Amino acid sequence: METKKIGIFDSGIGGVTVLKEIIKLLPNEDYIFYSDSINNPYGDKEDKEILEICDKITKELLEKNCKCIVIACNTASAKAAKFIREKYKEVPIFAIEPAYKMVHDFAYNKSTLVMATKGTIESEKFNILYKKYDNHQTYLLPCIGLADIIEKNEKEKIDEYLEKNLTQYRGKVGNVVLGCTHYPLIKEQIQNILGDVKFFYGATSLAEYLKEKLGEKNLLENNTGKIEFIDSQHLLIKEERFFNILNS
Ligand code: DGL
Repeated sequence: METKKIGIFDSGIGGVTVLKEIIKLLPNEDYIFYSDSINNPYGDKEDKEILEICDKITKELLEKNCKCIVIACNTASAKAAKFIREKYKEVPIFAIEPAYKMVHDFAYNKSTLVMATKGTIESEKFNILYKKYDNHQTYLLPCIGLADIIEKNEKEKIDEYLEKNLTQYRGKVGNVVLGCTHYPLIKEQIQNILGDVKFFYGATSLAEYLKEKLGEKNLLENNTGKIEFIDSQHLLIKEERFFNILNS
């Protein structure tokens, strides 16, 4: 009998930063990671298009015997999680969000830079979170195009981008919220520009929540920890990079 898996997706390679945290807590689950690189970036897409994309991927993962879905993309979570939960009522849907509440809980008194896609920053979901936990010394930075160059692994362009867009915050912020799952992949480069800042990232709490909820629903398995990788463009180079990051 085919085992039940955890289905996880992002607009590309970024969601591997979420999968890594999940595997630490749930090593005996089998996973399918769907990297939708053909539609990357999601960040500047219209809501309707994102809903359609997420619907299609969810359907495909469920057909491949997934017992739950993890949306490992802040943009897709902000725009489509509600719709997907309503459409697939019987399936547990887990969705990442920018770790802005963590700033409120652990570092409220420090200036904070929230880096995320334009889609996330402008979304209703993020704005509710922001208003609720506002520390009144927060800069919101829509990083248009950044996820795209991370996806393409264009190191020089990434450095230029960060230099151009982050230098003004050097010495001004103590906290940085990585509000896009691609950004932990360039944490060091961000640190090179901003200096000694504290990073906040939602993947660990999402992983804890996933473990707790699967336990409550009696959905935990004792499998071999197999990971299947699917790229929507079927690019082998993506698969190689995926496993490199996962094993780093
Ligand atoms: N990794 C995604 C996120 O967390 C999306 C980046 C993009 O496709 O624009 O928002």
